[in-house]
Amino acid sequence: MTKSTMSRKHTLLATALGACLALGTPAGFAGDLERGQALHDTFCIMCHSPELYGRTDRIANTYGEVLQQVTRWQNNARLRWTGYDIDSVTEYLAEKYYKVPR
Ligand code: HEC
Repeated sequence: MTKSTMSRKHTLLATALGACLALGTPAGFAGDLERGQALHDTFCIMCHSPELYGRTDRIANTYGEVLQQVTRWQNNARLRWTGYDIDSVTEYLAEKYYKVPR
């Protein structure tokens, strides 16, 4: 293989990677409801049922407060979620249980 074909391959790879990253986070879309539900049902319901989110003296009452609680709990559980994971679970809880707009 000559030097020039190698560098061309490298450029192609970099372009493909760039396209993937761009697709991963579409503009104006903070999270993914299905992903949020899957993450929540896998990691979060061992301690509390979703009834907790609807109790009258609940801690969170706005989207920002739900986001704070999700961030706090994934930290407590040492899940090392990405911002996208946290957004997805927040969006899922906000829409399905808290009924607060983003
Ligand atoms: C180790 C047990 C445990 C795990 C795991 C856990 N939670 Fe909790 N969570 C609690 C307890 C206990 C409370 C209520 C008391 C408190 O906030 O001190 C709570 C409260 C909450 C609240 C606030 C409820 C309200 O009053 O509005 C949210 C939201 C929440 N958890 C989300 C999550 C999410 C999302 C996960 C998964 C990343 C998770 N929790 C995992 C124990 C847990």
